Amino acid sequence: MSKLNTEELASFCKKKGFVFQAGEIYGGLSGFFDFGPLGVELKNNIKRKYWKDFVHKREDVFGQDGSIITNPKVWKASGHIDNFADLILTTTKTKTKLRADHFIEDELKIATDSMNADDINKLIKKHKLKYNGEDFEEVKNFNLMFNTQVGANVTSNSTAYLRPETAQSIFPNFRLVADVSRASLPFGITQIGKAYRNEISPRDFVFRCREFEQIEMEYFFNPNTQCDILTNELKKVKFQFLDAKTQDLGKNTMREITIGDLLKDKSKKFNSYHAYWFAVFFKWFNESIGLDYKNLRVREHTSTELSHYSDATFDIDYNFPMGFKEMFGMANRTDFDLKAHMEHSKTKMEFFDEKTNTKLIPHVIEPTIGVERLMMAIIYDSYKDDKDRGNIVLNIKPSLSPYQVAIFPLMNKEELTKIAKEIHNELIESDIVSFYDKSGSIGKRYARQDEIGTPYCITIDYECIEDGKDKGTITIRDRNSTKQKRIKIEDVSKIISELVKEKINFNKL
Ligand code: GAP
Repeated sequence: MSKLNTEELASFCKKKGFVFQAGEIYGGLSGFFDFGPLGVELKNNIKRKYWKDFVHKREDVFGQDGSIITNPKVWKASGHIDNFADLILTTTKTKTKLRADHFIEDELKIATDSMNADDINKLIKKHKLKYNGEDFEEVKNFNLMFNTQVGANVTSNSTAYLRPETAQSIFPNFRLVADVSRASLPFGITQIGKAYRNEISPRDFVFRCREFEQIEMEYFFNPNTQCDILTNELKKVKFQFLDAKTQDLGKNTMREITIGDLLKDKSKKFNSYHAYWFAVFFKWFNESIGLDYKNLRVREHTSTELSHYSDATFDIDYNFPMGFKEMFGMANRTDFDLKAHMEHSKTKMEFFDEKTNTKLIPHVIEPTIGVERLMMAIIYDSYKDDKDRGNIVLNIKPSLSPYQVAIFPLMNKEELTKIAKEIHNELIESDIVSFYDKSGSIGKRYARQDEIGTPYCITIDYECIEDGKDKGTITIRDRNSTKQKRIKIEDVSKIISELVKEKINFNKL
């Protein structure tokens, strides 16, 4: 487990080329980030893995890519224009604005997830809270959507919004995507893309930004049916759970339960579709992404914090340097959005369910991931300061690592660099991200790759070209164990490809 605080993590990410502040040479802009050479590779790998596992490998989920700015009526119908707000505190004299829940959390060291405006006003009065000696006005709502003008004629009708969630690109297209994909219930539509929120106080590195990327899926189902792909094996998926009741008592004690236990608990609004996707995503974060079980917990939203569209929401929180915080959310949005779009657009959103021979407005379960939060969790989870080795090691899953292999000619000599380049090019052609490095001692080159998570390094030495038993072979070194083996040049692509897919184990080579 890494012991970095948030600032140290940000500094590591900058030094290694994962994340920079946007417009850094001008002092940056709060809540906006640029991703460096390694950050862009890691983000792309996360998104590719998601797309492969949740779109290409499935027959019931279809992809789309909606525009960032859309008809503003979408945001009226979805309720974002009226309801998408955080509570803001304003000081009486200097009119300084603070995000109310963050201020209370910082001052009183208590969780605020379930608090509303009344609760905050009461706490401020009870504890006589002030900011720099100033009192506060009553708590107000602050809408988080960025707006802009479309076209040259600026009128009230030309106001449009940068989308605050990718989800609303999906609902209006529901019939179009279903028809072209010949989908039948239940089925999902998913997309990955940027979202924008004018956060009152962006903080905690990329955890809370104003521009970020979401991976979202809307899974449409008939609420009068059971999810028939929820297997007994998925019901056994275990996790640490913090329920709403415990939070209402002001506590945060977790207990270990299974998806099956949660389904059986009749006090919870948790249906079989919700259960299915929870089990699938929990396993994905733990097994495919590689996040440590102990650093994941499931948190039920309390009734006062539920979003305006949600009937029940369960998050998967990650244990970031600032403690357990939301990385993934999953709301049961019921038929809220499709109904709203049907009313506002006068377009029929009913769908014929072949299984039950009925026409209905489907309900929706919505898994959603913040890509930056997942990326931050992956780096933090895999970071280890290896005192024996004398360098940092990022133990990232090989398929997610920015570079999957690094190629080193032992010396910068034509007879070695020629072979090294040929291997490097062949790996790139086989869709393996290979990094070529010909300078520095081999020890330093290994350390550089350990620190950015490269799982395998290949060294081309003189044994490879000189007569003897090792002619035509190269050395492959494993990041985690530092063990080395010799393999034939003609087998490199196949072996690296299988190692990266975790189809073979290095020790068994
Ligand atoms: N469509 C539902 C929705 O947008 P949300 O909980 O507001 O729900 C979904 O956001 C996910 O987006 C969160 O779980 C989080 O990972 C990510 N996210 C939300 N706000 C963010 C921000 N300001 N910066 C970075 N990621 C954010």
